[in-house]
Amino acid sequence: MNDELAIDVKGLTKRYGPKLVVDHVDVAVPKGKIYGFLGPNGSGKTTTIRMICGLLTPDEGSGTCLGFDMRRDAAEIKKRVGYMTQKFSYWEDLSIEENLLFTADMFGLDRKKERVEKALEDLRLVSRRKQLAGRLSGGWKQRLALAASILHEPLLLLLDEPTAGVDPKARREFWDEIHRLAGQGITVLVSTHYMDEAERCHAIIYIAYGRLLVQGTVRDVIDHAGLATWSVKGSGLSDLMRNLEKNPAIATMAPFGEILHISGTNEAALYEALAPYIDDPCLEWRKSAPTLEDAFIHYMDQNDERGFS
Ligand SMILES: Nc1ncnc2c1ncn2[C@@H]1O[C@H](COP(=O)(O)OP(=O)(O)OP(=O)(O)O)[C@@H](O)[C@H]1O
Ligand SMILES: [Mg+2]
Repeated sequence: MNDELAIDVKGLTKRYGPKLVVDHVDVAVPKGKIYGFLGPNGSGKTTTIRMICGLLTPDEGSGTCLGFDMRRDAAEIKKRVGYMTQKFSYWEDLSIEENLLFTADMFGLDRKKERVEKALEDLRLVSRRKQLAGRLSGGWKQRLALAASILHEPLLLLLDEPTAGVDPKARREFWDEIHRLAGQGITVLVSTHYMDEAERCHAIIYIAYGRLLVQGTVRDVIDHAGLATWSVKGSGLSDLMRNLEKNPAIATMAPFGEILHISGTNEAALYEALAPYIDDPCLEWRKSAPTLEDAFIHYMDQNDERGFS
């Protein structure tokens, strides 16, 4: 057992009937770090999170969470983990403070008033404590849900798409709070579909089709894809895409607003494929650094082709 790791699980596997939804996934998250969990819809993020916190029994795999055996000590793990579910709920006709007091009550916590006060302060909810939860904007609702999940002072936070549907400013502020909590020594595993959020993690874990495809820092993940990328803007981009779509030198093509990113794993072959269009006066080409999204699209396509499903 590695004392430095808050989560240390190997070979996590879950089947639903004949369907393999999590396929031998290893997760190792050091204490006090923020790890991002990314992957397309249905790739097994929620299922993995639920196995890590002991809510779901894996079919295979073993390991520890906060030093406790994932299979044997699920009850001990649950006491020390804060879990913000993908579709969290709260009581609309109770205030923020009442929601927190009620949650503390439900979990049979001691020092209820003190804990609620600390959560209100930690998530800067003090001035809004009397506001009805049902009247809060999306961003404040997420904050309330986060406050509720830290009432029992967990050592590990599992946040399942905590900012889905929240505006960019509120998401950014929510992430400031996540970093403040990590600064207090709490470990965080957070699933997200947002690339800007992935970039705020110490490291990311990317799964697709139930399989772990890559993990590491954002830099590692981009570099590991080994892509060369060109960006192009101008008129006739959809024709260009159509002309290039079957070209084997091209690994991924993805429009970002008015700019099309074209990537390949062989720089020379990619240039050769693009050469006939480089001097087109309607197009403006630029050699660019591949983004995290380029890398993810590439990983996904690559694995799709191998027939994982
Ligand atoms: N209780 C269940 N019974 C049967 N299949 C399930 C069950 N829970 C999840 N699945 C399936 O397992 C796969 C993985 O689901 P999971 O919710 O873990 O994905 P996810 O990565 O969290 O997706 P999303 O990004 O949409 O939240 C999906 O195909 C889903 O339909
Ligand atoms: Mg999910």
